[in-house]
Amino acid sequence: MEKKEFLYEGKAKKIYKTEDPNLLIAEYKDSATAFDAIKKATIEGKGVLNNTIASFFFELLNKNSVPTHFVKKLSDREMLIKKVKIIPVEVVVRNLAAGSIVKRLGIKKETLFNPPLIEFFLKNDELHDPLICESHIYALNLATKEDIKIMKELALKVNEILKDFMKKQGIILVDFKLEFGKTDDGQIILADEISPDTCRFWDEKTKESLDKDRFRFDLGDLIEGYKKVLERIQGEDDNAKS
Ligand code: TMP
Ligand code: ASP
Repeated sequence: MEKKEFLYEGKAKKIYKTEDPNLLIAEYKDSATAFDAIKKATIEGKGVLNNTIASFFFELLNKNSVPTHFVKKLSDREMLIKKVKIIPVEVVVRNLAAGSIVKRLGIKKETLFNPPLIEFFLKNDELHDPLICESHIYALNLATKEDIKIMKELALKVNEILKDFMKKQGIILVDFKLEFGKTDDGQIILADEISPDTCRFWDEKTKESLDKDRFRFDLGDLIEGYKKVLERIQGEDDNAKS
């Protein structure tokens, strides 16, 4: 599939048109940002790792009947994706308390959420992606009740698939953020990316963060953490499974 005109650039990816109007190419960049890009860096190799990890997760989800925008991995940094209109609501699923919820609600880190907690955030960088509730979504016409029902069901299904899969690799899926989009024919599918940029992964034994928290909070080399995730999911580290 030939890469055509550049369409737009986000914080972690560039998007290009292809000869097929329904398909786009996502190119994963080496840039890392946190706290609405207050903290920024170029981290060589991050784009290749995230494209590989996200391709793996999207394939796993597609195989398990979760509709996603992923078509196929094209190269080290590029994947072919379906064109969608992004629904401007970020869906966060939490199994354990970490990150913003610990500060916001004054709860203990690692508090268990069973059933998993679902939160919605408005996708708007200028407003710093504020937490919103379902009433806001309907009042602002961001999505319909039927859309949100589907998004919640898919988010919980993604959680079950990824949580179980990662557990087998010795990794705890703490929380993650999803974005959904609508195709021209009105189907809601999973979009954006699923990677250590958008998930919290902890080593089951050591509780070491293997995700972007390494960059956000200076917990260690980002590439080292992401490589551990990739090695585990590709089954190269058999020690982790014992
Ligand atoms: P939070 O605890 O900071 O709200 O993050 C929850 C999850 O969402 C965590 O896995 C990281 C992910 N996330 C993103 O993918 N993008 C973002 O902009 C933020 C703030 C979090
Ligand atoms: N993605 C957000 C940013 O670039 C924040 C984050 O992931 O922590 O600022």
